[in-house]
Amino acid sequence: MSQDTYRLINPAGDEMELPVRKGTVGPDVIDVAKLYKTKGVFTYDPGFVSTGSCESDITFIDGEKGVLMYRGYPVEQLAAHSNFIEVSYLLLHGDLPTSAELESFDDTIRTHTMLNEGMLNFFKGFRYDAHPMAMLSAVVGSMSAYYHDEMDSSNPDHRDIFAHRILAKLPTIAAAAHKLNIGQPFMYPRNDLSYAENLLHMLFAVPAEPYEIDPIAAEALDLLFILHADHEQNCSTSTVRMAGSSGANPYSAIAAGISALWGPAHGGANEAVLTMLKEIGDVSQIGKYVEKAKDKNDPFRLMGFGHRVYKNFDPRATIIRDMCHKVLAKLDRKDTPLFDLAQELEQVALKDDYFIEKNLYPNVDFYSGIIYKALGIPTSMFTVMFALGRSVGWTAHWREMISDPAGKIARPRQLYVGAPQRDYKQIEER
Ligand code: ACO
Repeated sequence: MSQDTYRLINPAGDEMELPVRKGTVGPDVIDVAKLYKTKGVFTYDPGFVSTGSCESDITFIDGEKGVLMYRGYPVEQLAAHSNFIEVSYLLLHGDLPTSAELESFDDTIRTHTMLNEGMLNFFKGFRYDAHPMAMLSAVVGSMSAYYHDEMDSSNPDHRDIFAHRILAKLPTIAAAAHKLNIGQPFMYPRNDLSYAENLLHMLFAVPAEPYEIDPIAAEALDLLFILHADHEQNCSTSTVRMAGSSGANPYSAIAAGISALWGPAHGGANEAVLTMLKEIGDVSQIGKYVEKAKDKNDPFRLMGFGHRVYKNFDPRATIIRDMCHKVLAKLDRKDTPLFDLAQELEQVALKDDYFIEKNLYPNVDFYSGIIYKALGIPTSMFTVMFALGRSVGWTAHWREMISDPAGKIARPRQLYVGAPQRDYKQIEER
C-alpha cells in the first residue's frame, strides 16, 4: 500500500502532513488517527458521510458508477452464475471454492440447520403477534447463551463454527417466528433441500399434507439472498463490527446488527415500500405522493428511493426488477398491478427534477417486497428475509474485524455542546 500526504493548515498557519492511504480501487483515505494526539482536535462527521471506519477486503461499492463487487467479483456475474451458498463461501473465505470445498461447505451448512430444542421454548414466550424481527433478534441473541462454551473469538475453529451456525440456523429461527405468527406448528428443517428450498419448506409446509416447492420461488429467494449478502460498512454491518469490537459474544453482535437493520431507513424499507404502494393504491395518485415526497414540510419520503452511497443507480435494484417480471409471470398474477404501480412510480420519479438533482434512484428494496409478496411471504417477514441474506456479510465482517491484529475497540468522540462545568444546587435552591 503506497502512501501520499495531505496537508492541513489551520488559521494560525500551523501545518500538519496527514498520510493518505490508497486502496486497490476507490477513493483514497486521509489517515487522521494521530490528529488528536498531535494537534488536540477531532474530525466531525455525523453519520460517517466522509469517514472510513476500517480497512476491509470483502466488498467494494462505487456509488457513482453503480458498481458492487464481492471479493472483486461483480454482483451481476454472481447473480447470473452463482448461488447463495457459493457466494457465502466467497464472502467468508475470500475466494471462490473448488468443487470439493463447495461440497464440504454446503454439507456443513445443511447439517447444522436444527436448533437446540430448548431454544424453541423462547417462541412459547412471545405473543402470537410479536414482530418477527424482534423475535429474530432476541433468539439470535440467545445463541450467545447456548453456544458460549464454543466461542473463544481468538480460536479460528470457533470462528468458523460461529459462521456456520449463523448461516445454517437463522432460516430455522426465521421460519419458527413466522409459524408462531400464523399459529401453525413449527416445521423442522430438511437437510436434503437447498438453502432456499429448505426455507420455503419451513415457512409454508404443514405436517398434515405434502408441500411442493416451486423452483421459481426457490430461484428468486436464492437470488435475493445473493444480492443482500453484503454491502460493506452499512449501518447494520457497522453495528456488528462496533458491538463485536469490545470482544462481546459475536451472536450478541449479530443480534445488534439485526436490530439496526430493522429501521425503515435501512432494511425496514422493504416493508415500508409495500405499505407505501398500498397507500398510493392507484397510478392516478402517484403525482400527489411524489409531491408529498418533495415537500420539506411533509415527513413522507418515497420508500425504496435514495441511498447513502449509490448516486447513480443501485445495480441490485435492476436485477431484482428483472426477477420481478419472471416471478409474476410464473407465480401470482394478482400482484401484477402492484408491480405496474411501482414501475410507473419509478418512471415518474426518475423524470422529476427533485429526484434528478438529488440523485435519488430506486434502491435494493424498491422491488424486493413485490417478489416476497408474490411468494406468499407476509410483509412483516420482508426484513427478516433481508437479514437472512445479510447474515453472511455480518459474519464475514465480524471475522475480519476480530482477526485484525491492529483492531481497536470502536469508540468515536464528539463535539460537546452541553453546559460547561457548574456547581450542584440543593433542591430547595433550584
Ligand atoms: N424521498 C424524498 N426525498 C429524499 C429521499 C426519498 N426517498 N431520500 C433522500 N431524499 C432527500 C432528502 O430529503 C435530502 O434532501 P435535502 O438535501 O434537501 O435535505 C436529500 O435527498 C439527501 O437525503 P439524506 O437523507 O441526507 O441522504 P442520506 O444519505 O442520509 O440517506 C437514505 C439515505 C436514508 C437511504 C434516504 O435516501 C432515505 O430515507 N430513503 C428512503 C428509505 C429507504 O429506501 N431506505 C433503504 C436504503 S437501502 C438499504 O439500507 C438496504
